[in-house]
Amino acid sequence: MKFERKDLLGLEDLTREEIEFILRTTESFVEISERPIKKVPMMRGLTVVNLFFEPSTRTRTSFELAEKRLSADTVNISASTSATVKGETLKDTAKNIEAMSIDMLVVRHSASGAPHFLAGVLDCPVINAGDGAHEHPTQALLDLFTAKQRVGRLDGLEVGIVGDILHSRVARSNIWGFTKLGAKVTVCGPPTLMPPGIESMGVDVAYDLDALLPKLDILMLLRIQTERLTQCFFPSLREYAELFGVDGKRMERAKKDVVVMHPGPLNRGVEITPEVADGPNSVILEQVKYGLAVRMAVLYLLSGGEPGAQAV
Ligand code: CP
Repeated sequence: MKFERKDLLGLEDLTREEIEFILRTTESFVEISERPIKKVPMMRGLTVVNLFFEPSTRTRTSFELAEKRLSADTVNISASTSATVKGETLKDTAKNIEAMSIDMLVVRHSASGAPHFLAGVLDCPVINAGDGAHEHPTQALLDLFTAKQRVGRLDGLEVGIVGDILHSRVARSNIWGFTKLGAKVTVCGPPTLMPPGIESMGVDVAYDLDALLPKLDILMLLRIQTERLTQCFFPSLREYAELFGVDGKRMERAKKDVVVMHPGPLNRGVEITPEVADGPNSVILEQVKYGLAVRMAVLYLLSGGEPGAQAV
């Protein structure tokens, strides 16, 4: 199989076979970051631009390291240092960058659909590094990969995604990913942070975390995205933590081997306490570790690479 897509815009578009193909390709990239010399020549001579219009620690660093480990030349552009602050349109910015003969664009934007728009006007591949509340496909791919590494399978797993579902691109991409790969997903959070009609994505909805918790194999906690909250969705962070935050006491209700995931950044003491975030069930840093391998695989496949051709 060859990955035939020009762009990676979301998991909604991908088939189960395509997602599994990316995850299988990822396996061979994990080991590269464990070598003393963490570099292979697969993207030598290619140029990737990382265009970030929103803050990021994990995704941006992970893409840049992935590009460097594949020997690509990389350039980082953030909103505050781009000519968009002088009024240039997103399309003009992207077309001008492409005119410098780049080979791939990684973009994060607060507007849902921005990467899809750019994919339509650029000839080079576009990777969505998070668009508004819509999708964050590489985050979901790394979450799927991490869960599979820890549990050994995804088919039949009970996955709970808990928190601010309304504003979460991570929730959307993970719902597409986990359901396509045969897991059963339940979303849980305050009714005010639950998108109407979310059941049409093939998930169950729960409002009582304590009742849901004992069933779960995977517990994915989401951050309350205060930067996207335009109204008062719940009385206080303290009340949110009381009902939906996970601490050591609440963990007693969960399966002994439940896998605790969080995409980061963490609001310690709100959706997760330090004893849970840093405890034995947490795979939060494994998610970050595998994120690098997932992004290497995606960059490699979109640059025309074929599985099995990786340098040893
Ligand atoms: N998980 C995630 O997207 O984190 P960053 O915002 O730091 O990239």
